[in-house]
Amino acid sequence: MTVMPSSSAVRVRSQRLAAARVSTAGFFHRPGLRGWVTMAPRGDMRSLLAIYPGSFDPVTNGHLDLIERAAKLFDRLIVAVLHNDGKEPLFTIAERVEMLREVTRPWRNVEVDVFDGLLVEYARQKKARAIIRGIRAVSDYEYELQMALMNRKLEPEIETVFMLPAEAYSYLSSRLVKEIVRFGGSVQDLVPPIVERRLRAKVS
Ligand code: PNS
Repeated sequence: MTVMPSSSAVRVRSQRLAAARVSTAGFFHRPGLRGWVTMAPRGDMRSLLAIYPGSFDPVTNGHLDLIERAAKLFDRLIVAVLHNDGKEPLFTIAERVEMLREVTRPWRNVEVDVFDGLLVEYARQKKARAIIRGIRAVSDYEYELQMALMNRKLEPEIETVFMLPAEAYSYLSSRLVKEIVRFGGSVQDLVPPIVERRLRAKVS
């Protein structure tokens, strides 16, 4: 037996749909039982995109570990290198992008790109649903929390997803890797071989 919806149920449903809104970022909002419900546009449901931003000066095995984890969770992942952050980088933007492209080649859903200006603006342009940030230890948390909350204030519809790298990389950073190489130490298990070669060439 087919149960037909009552005319009042149909009226409520059509009133709700009439009240639905589509935001500038393409998200669909509809009234739910406890206020407004935000839904991704249909296209985005099938292709969930995340941005993994950073300086990547240079990419380390810790970054790669996170890329691998995020690439499993999302349909697409853009590793986005910040162009002008005021820091004095060791590698040029072109060198960082080239190394990243080389080492992320095994993942077919991972792209490498460059961005300038506000991260949330870039994420909005790309129609990303999430920003990925790695938390290695409690010491990362305060800065990351501040950044995530500020990004949420600027763009409430993009979520920051904190991910944990493998414990083996919890003490690893691009800054320490550069320092080790500068003083002649080995970074063999800390960065991919191509990065190690480039590091040695830079400091020699
Ligand atoms: O690898 P890093 O240096 O920790 O990455 C920091 C990065 C690039 C994610 C951050 O500096 C950033 O998002 N810069 C873009 C400018 C911006 O959006 N600033 C406001 C952050 S609340």
